[in-house]
Amino acid sequence: MAHWTPDDIPDQTGRTALITGGNSGIGLETASVLAARGARVILAGRDQTKLDTAVDVVRAAAPEAETETLLLDLSDLASVRSAAQRIAETETIDLLFNNAGVMNLPTRLTTRDGFEMTVGTNHLGHFAFDAQIWPAVRRSAAARVVTVSAIAARWPIGKLDDLMSENSYRGMTAYAKSKRANIVYTLELARRTAHTDVEAFVIHPGSAMTGLQQHGTTTLTRLLTPLAERLLMGSAAGAAWPSLYAATSPDVTTGEFIGPAGRDQTSGTPKPAKLPKDAVDTELGARLWADSERLTEVTFKP
Ligand SMILES: NC(=O)c1ccc[n+]([C@@H]2O[C@H](COP(=O)([O-])OP(=O)(O)OC[C@H]3O[C@@H](n4cnc5c(N)ncnc54)[C@H](OP(=O)(O)O)[C@@H]3O)[C@@H](O)[C@H]2O)c1
Repeated sequence: MAHWTPDDIPDQTGRTALITGGNSGIGLETASVLAARGARVILAGRDQTKLDTAVDVVRAAAPEAETETLLLDLSDLASVRSAAQRIAETETIDLLFNNAGVMNLPTRLTTRDGFEMTVGTNHLGHFAFDAQIWPAVRRSAAARVVTVSAIAARWPIGKLDDLMSENSYRGMTAYAKSKRANIVYTLELARRTAHTDVEAFVIHPGSAMTGLQQHGTTTLTRLLTPLAERLLMGSAAGAAWPSLYAATSPDVTTGEFIGPAGRDQTSGTPKPAKLPKDAVDTELGARLWADSERLTEVTFKP
């Protein structure tokens, strides 16, 4: 489709979408649009009050919407396990959005399980969550997994050596690693699900001012942020287009990387995007998968 917009999303009645980070930004927009198209939506997040407020936003966009919330802290494997268990036992998940993320943490923080926080949340938390809710995904006759990466995944960061940033730490480098891992993970997931009813996509949303920029708190960024927002950044609604397109378009193929095709790739109609050079390396995919299983102590056989 030459000029896809959310108006092209087919009726989603009878489909259930689970969105991590569903309480804010791109995830909340994704949930609202799908709910307005008839999907039942499960908003997953780490704060029940924020989730309840987000449900009100979804219901304002889609008063008839069926909504659920799921308490999930991706930086805590025990929380991931108990949230996933509830879903795996009771649900059928047709659309899974690995959307939650943190960016540019000023110092090297660690998750409850000792992983560097950015990679631990953005990649390892999602890996462990997906692995453990997989029975719910397999119950769907046509499931799609959409993982939200970023253009930062194209930065020259090598082959995901020093995944935990033990040798050196910079906030945006850790973010780029986590977003590269999102792509490498998805390509490997697409290979491992090639003969099943599951399709896997990875997207970059362009750029939008959301909760994501809250950690870059130098005086300069505080001064420049409103200007940058006006001049350079799109809306969270527009940034949700690639996720929505990957989840619902009949014109996509499993394993694709999708992003906005407009000026500077920050907004516009979603289209297949250029993959980072190293991301298609199948050995790297197998290594990241094995490392993720070892670190999280979760076996994932999709
Ligand atoms: N905005 C952009 O320009 C841009 C560009 C490229 C890629 N992305 C990607 O888009 C995705 C969504 O980001 P956004 O822009 O919508 O930012 P956002 O508004 O900050 O949303 C991020 C979501 O992730 C959740 N989250 C963070 N840590 C979590 C944890 N430990 N457990 C569970 N949930 C957690 C946040 O929950 P809390 O509200 O509790 O913090 C929030 O709901 C991210 O993966 C990001 O990397 C965004």
